[in-house]
Amino acid sequence: MKQRTLLLILVFLLGGMICRADEGMWIPMLLKKYNIEEMQRQGFKLTAEDIYAVNQASLKDAVVGLGYEEMPFFHFCTGELVSKEGLVITNHHCAFDMIQSHSSLEHNYLRDGFWAKNREEELINPGITASILVRMEDVTDKINAGLKEGISLSEQKQKIAEICQQLETEATEGTELKANIKPYFNGNQYLMSVFRIFKDVRLVGAPPSAIGKFGGDTDNWMWPRHTGDFSVLRIYAGSRNEPASYAPENKPYQPESFFKISMKGLNEGDFTMVFGYPGTTNEYLTSYAIEQIQEVENPHKIAIRTAKLNVINAAMESDELLRIKYASKAAGVANAWKKWQGEIKGLKRFRTVAKKQEEEKAFRQWAGTQEEYATLLEKYKHLYGQRKDLVLAAAYVNEAGKKGAEIVGWSANIARLLKDSAEKEQILIYADEYYKDYDRNTDKKILSEMLRLYNRNLAPEWIPEEVRKAAGKKGIDVYVDKLFETSVLADRETFVQFLENNRLKAYKKLQKDPAYRLYVSIDQLYKKQIQPELTRIGNEMTVLNQNWLAALMKMHPERTFYADANSTLRVAYGKIQGYAPSDAVGYEYYTTLKGIMEKDNPEIYDYNVPDKLREIYRNRDFGPYTQDGEVPVCFIATNHTTGGNSGSPVLNAEGHLIGLNFDRAWDGVMSDLQYAPEICRNIAVDIRYVLFIMDKLAGAHHLIGEMLLVDE
Ligand code: ARG
Ligand code: ASP
Repeated sequence: MKQRTLLLILVFLLGGMICRADEGMWIPMLLKKYNIEEMQRQGFKLTAEDIYAVNQASLKDAVVGLGYEEMPFFHFCTGELVSKEGLVITNHHCAFDMIQSHSSLEHNYLRDGFWAKNREEELINPGITASILVRMEDVTDKINAGLKEGISLSEQKQKIAEICQQLETEATEGTELKANIKPYFNGNQYLMSVFRIFKDVRLVGAPPSAIGKFGGDTDNWMWPRHTGDFSVLRIYAGSRNEPASYAPENKPYQPESFFKISMKGLNEGDFTMVFGYPGTTNEYLTSYAIEQIQEVENPHKIAIRTAKLNVINAAMESDELLRIKYASKAAGVANAWKKWQGEIKGLKRFRTVAKKQEEEKAFRQWAGTQEEYATLLEKYKHLYGQRKDLVLAAAYVNEAGKKGAEIVGWSANIARLLKDSAEKEQILIYADEYYKDYDRNTDKKILSEMLRLYNRNLAPEWIPEEVRKAAGKKGIDVYVDKLFETSVLADRETFVQFLENNRLKAYKKLQKDPAYRLYVSIDQLYKKQIQPELTRIGNEMTVLNQNWLAALMKMHPERTFYADANSTLRVAYGKIQGYAPSDAVGYEYYTTLKGIMEKDNPEIYDYNVPDKLREIYRNRDFGPYTQDGEVPVCFIATNHTTGGNSGSPVLNAEGHLIGLNFDRAWDGVMSDLQYAPEICRNIAVDIRYVLFIMDKLAGAHHLIGEMLLVDE
């Protein structure tokens, strides 16, 4: 009897621990120390070295961070290698810009999909990079050794940057590798990642948006979900299999390893792991920070984007060409807009502010009179108080100003190019790219809305002079009409004319352009009244944050902390599991093609199923891609993920590919700030749906032929 009670208690405790363990994004190099035993307890069959090893091939060699040539260490998405010839799968929304930029009314790849029939037809994507992690190294001691006591904050910042650069150079000198050091645990630790960065990444295939973006922004961030969010790329390398800029003679990259594809199927409770590049999380913020996000930042940013989206959506509904032009922009604006709303909801529901306040109370008690920690929270409170108006004003500068109407930000880009005396040819190429997706009337309407919100919602001291003038006696619409009539940036023809006519004086002339003057006015206010203060507060917070987390670790020696996401390679593990969003409602863990047919509605753009898919469904021509007689489409699991994890491989207990991560479920999108195991779910597209679409809809058998399908 006694023993049974003990056992029960043990099971209960373990259960509790397992629940907690779903939270966290872990560092591949440190799995052996912190996680692997628990992963194996949860069903994982491989070893830590199978995931991350330096002297032999491991799973990490098959994970790809997608980036841009100008900033290759920021990974906007993740992809995974699935063949020995450099074939990569990622999300449709990750390649959306690439697909969009190859689209026109004649070749509408966004609408119709695209499938290269052979290697020659694969499309080049200038500026896109694919990074593969070679190794990691802890450089904390090396950095600390170079720091002196008693130097100022900015001197310290400078010194750290210098040391990092030196270490990065030393680590890669004479090789084709690139190193990058990032702070972890709020700067309590520094790790260097060494990459091989490929620069020739081609588009191989993408389903039509009606599959790859099925449900559109309506279903975005939601479960149950039916989006076939995948696309196919290929990495090309030079003759020695090394990273090389695009060249026609480049060859498909031959990776150290690639993922095998599991045809076994899924069960609730199965072990699952996500291996990718999560971007940013903030799990250790104080209540002051959360309150500011929830009450100030998010609500205003949401309001600005709502106004923008109303204009853009109406334009897209009105015209097919406008739909192509604005598809990618609209998706970008809508994505964070919706997430912020879900975040506020989740934070309120989980009483995150109140919970943090309780923790802070305990912290104050623990800190007592310990010199280093006693005043931490007071300092935070003070800084967040100072920050409040500034972040709000900064949000308007960004969301409503520089990134509000496109003409404003564009004027600054052009000014920069002219100032640097860029070649005219170069400017024209750049301008073609821009005007291709530009609609003057839509932008005009956006500008009016932005100016209205700016004037309505901010205290006068934060409104830039030009913005205030725009709302003068004659009214905003008259101002906007006039701006677009007189600006040389309002359409392509006028701009080209302007360049032709003003070879040398273009930069000087641009100073008088109304769009540029508006930009300058916004920028000046920012540089004078906002930026210096925000930087000072930011620097002070960096120090606080480091101390705060160090203190929390001291206070809870029993807890294994994980580092916030920072766009470096991480492992999240958990299990496949449904959830209950509210009383009496329960969600299953996977969706099927049947659900797509239930949502089918030719009248609604987001739910208009392609005819061919309807036909396949009618004939039940499902091939081997079924689970319980239906084609599985998406599934959910308890893996802790965030933006950047899109396209990440979702792996089973054998390390085989079962799906591609692409989203999170509505009730748990606050997980960047607070993870709640009962409700936070990542959403993945089932790899069998990916194969089904490639096989039955696209007829891309040659691609499936490249992959290795296994029964486990
Ligand atoms: N919410 C997902 C992520 O944050 C998918 C976004 C793309 N899809 C869309 N409908 N906008 O990136
Ligand atoms: N959809 C996100 C991405 O693009 C993933 C997420 O935020 O869960 O990375």
